[in-house]
Amino acid sequence: MIKTNKINDNIFQIRVIDQDEKNFHGCLFPVIHGTSYSCYLIIDEEITLIDTIEKKYFCEVHQEIEKILNDRTIDNIIINHVEPDHSGSFAAVMSCYPNAKIYTSKAGVKGMQEQFFKEYRYNPVGLGDNIKTGKYTLSFMETPLVHWPDNMWTYLEEEQILFSNDAFGQLLVDDVVYDSEISKDKLLDFSKEYYANIVLPNNKNVAATLTKFATTNWNIKLIAPSHGIMIKDHIDAMINQYAEFARVSLKKKAVIVYDTIWHNTETLANSFYKTLFNEGYEVKIYKLSTSRVSEVIRELIDTKLILIGTSNQNNCILPTVADFIERLKALKLENRQALVFGSYGWSPVPFNNLVNTLEQIKIEVITKPLIVCYKPKEEELLQLNNVLLDNIKEKVKI
Ligand code: FEO
Repeated sequence: MIKTNKINDNIFQIRVIDQDEKNFHGCLFPVIHGTSYSCYLIIDEEITLIDTIEKKYFCEVHQEIEKILNDRTIDNIIINHVEPDHSGSFAAVMSCYPNAKIYTSKAGVKGMQEQFFKEYRYNPVGLGDNIKTGKYTLSFMETPLVHWPDNMWTYLEEEQILFSNDAFGQLLVDDVVYDSEISKDKLLDFSKEYYANIVLPNNKNVAATLTKFATTNWNIKLIAPSHGIMIKDHIDAMINQYAEFARVSLKKKAVIVYDTIWHNTETLANSFYKTLFNEGYEVKIYKLSTSRVSEVIRELIDTKLILIGTSNQNNCILPTVADFIERLKALKLENRQALVFGSYGWSPVPFNNLVNTLEQIKIEVITKPLIVCYKPKEEELLQLNNVLLDNIKEKVKI
């Protein structure tokens, strides 16, 4: 579905809502209701297009653009980000509007050239640069590694609109345009999942970006991201939530992730859940083979303790747990603690390997693996839960 939303007489959002999409940003991030992608058209003496959307949507998007242009042409194209969901249609757009001037960050120039858009002339821009399109002024600020090196924000001074690209995005695909149409909690919750899966490894860069942003004195009355809905009622809450995530504010919270072949590891997981809950922890528990991993990652954003359980499959951890561990590596979490648990039949080898992996990624493992052979007996459950309790009391400091 494609929708053009008129922000005012001169500014348009063209938004593709793809409810069939199973993953966001390529294969990375499983979603339940699909995704959306937006570009923006600013009509002035010169006409400016901000971002170009993924190639597969070009024909639909182009038709919408042409309706708005009404026989005029595009004079400026701003590439806020080179990732293909925002730049994929670039060559096709340029073939329709070959005289357009192109603006992108310095890293954006390199990224565009390396994505085979070599033959174009780019104008590198950054903080302190602006272009006048008539009555409007567009200013720029690089936001490196939020979440790629080339990311950039564009600010429309006269209308106080921030075109933030990936930043402040969400996977909301409701048929709504602005945050005023949904609750603040819903907006922030969707933003949290998006942040955890896309931005979290770059917390330090988020902090640096927000510090730089504070020097701009840009007043904002609308955030226009390239994913999800536009934000006008909860701008401060959204920015504050990014600042809070970037500070790594952890709670007395545990996330238990596990998978299980014959439910023995599951029995351990459920018993640990009760112990942690009774000890005052907020606890989330996920069986990986029946959970959406991007939801699990959302919960890691503010959790101190991670419990990882697996059965032993031929001296290896289960494939779903291996997938989770690879994602955990990529998240580069700080100041987290963990423990490993599970059931085995005749060899406990994979549990120690898992501990080693966690230590390599600088997650402190607070005790040796809590494991049982085959089915846990009552006395084993009691003993393992006591070990868990002793270790969290002694070692987990919030
Ligand atoms: Fe939505 Fe980093 O692209």
